[in-house]
Amino acid sequence: MEILRCENLTKIYQNENVEQKALDSVSLSVNKGEFVSIVGASGSGKSTLLHIIGTVDKPTSGKVFIEGKDISMFNKTESAIFRRRNIGIIYQFYNLISTLNVEQNIKLPLKLDKKNINEIYFNELVQTLGLKEKLKKFPNELSGGEQQRTAIARAMLYRPAIVLADEPTRKLR
Ligand SMILES: Nc1ncnc2c1ncn2[C@@H]1O[C@H](COP(=O)(O)OP(=O)(O)O)[C@@H](O)[C@H]1O
Ligand SMILES: [Mg+2]
Repeated sequence: MEILRCENLTKIYQNENVEQKALDSVSLSVNKGEFVSIVGASGSGKSTLLHIIGTVDKPTSGKVFIEGKDISMFNKTESAIFRRRNIGIIYQFYNLISTLNVEQNIKLPLKLDKKNINEIYFNELVQTLGLKEKLKKFPNELSGGEQQRTAIARAMLYRPAIVLADEPTRKLR
């Protein structure tokens, strides 16, 4: 079953008078349960593509369908809610909330939706990711790898339909 489809995605960044084409008519299809890697040189558009699939950014043209639903038409609020419920994003630069500790960061998406937290799964995740001793620490007290693992846990706790991971193991050894 197809879970994600991109059709002719083009993204042109416009800064002052300079145009930068980051994506040039990219099409792809991903089935449920599939694991897909995107490989390319720095600056080739990997993050741009993930941000568009993750509804964080909009394409200049083209469409994205998730479970058959056209997400390119969503406004900002619709995008934010859809993303929180369906997509786990592990950003290249983590995007943790600096005023929240590790535990609060990981639980934030569920709290925003007033959903019950499965504490068993939460404990399993932080155990697996080696974050058990770090739960009360703030992002600026963490190493790069610990911040990245916090971002991974945050993306996973909601059990999203799609996980988008932007170089998620770069800081992990
Ligand atoms: N916000 C932006 N404004 C202008 N150009 C951008 C912006 N974000 C990315 N780019 C440009 O788009 C291209 C693709 O960037 P990016 O998607 O970050 O590549 P990658 O993740 O593969 O390294 C690069 O040339 C980059 O400079
Ligand atoms: Mg990138």
